[in-house]
Amino acid sequence: MFILSDERPADGAAIERLLDKCFGCDRHGKRSYAYRRDRGPVDGLSVSARAREQGTLLGNIRFWPALLDGEEVLLLGPLAVDPDHQGEGIGRALIAEGLKRARARGYGLVLLVGDPAYYGRFGFEPAAPHDIFMPGEDPARLQLREIRPGYLGRLRGDLRPADP
Ligand SMILES: CC(C)(COP(=O)(O)OP(=O)(O)OC[C@H]1O[C@@H](n2cnc3c(N)ncnc32)[C@H](O)[C@@H]1OP(=O)(O)O)[C@@H](O)C(=O)NCCC(=O)NCCS
Repeated sequence: MFILSDERPADGAAIERLLDKCFGCDRHGKRSYAYRRDRGPVDGLSVSARAREQGTLLGNIRFWPALLDGEEVLLLGPLAVDPDHQGEGIGRALIAEGLKRARARGYGLVLLVGDPAYYGRFGFEPAAPHDIFMPGEDPARLQLREIRPGYLGRLRGDLRPADP
């Protein structure tokens, strides 16, 4: 059993260990990390999953700001769940909570780099047919989900890092 709560400053080291475990220590070389360099995640959208009894960290989700056609949009990730607890619904719960918070803060569009087979079930679709790309990233892995109806409109082009 797990509970969700705001990420706490004290989660920091455990989150780094979890990300190394899930994505490898060379993860900082990934294209999406260029969007995270020199800036922090969006306040209020970072959520941790913890074991109900012991309080140990089981999963985490964060969102970073990015620019599309001059508009601030969200880049979801990293999302990671402890390998010993995958398949228990933690990833699903973190995504649902993160998107709920993002919507409540007025964001209209969420993008991510990930496996379409996983994210398709949460309403994400390929970004390339909308003429939206992340330079240097495989277009098939960039997914998007509109969270405010009509927001996507005619937004298109390359996703750019937000100002530091
Ligand atoms: C991907 C990840 C976040 C999913 O978290 P999770 O807590 O295991 O997922 P859930 O338990 O909520 O599973 C939801 C469903 O997705 C499925 N699923 C999990 N990973 C999948 C994948 N890579 N492709 C397709 N389906 C997947 C599960 O089987 C489950 O299916 P079900 O509802 O039909 O039983 C987790 O496995 C993880 O941290 N993996 C390593 C890091 C990673 O790949 N992060 C995502 C960025 S691309």
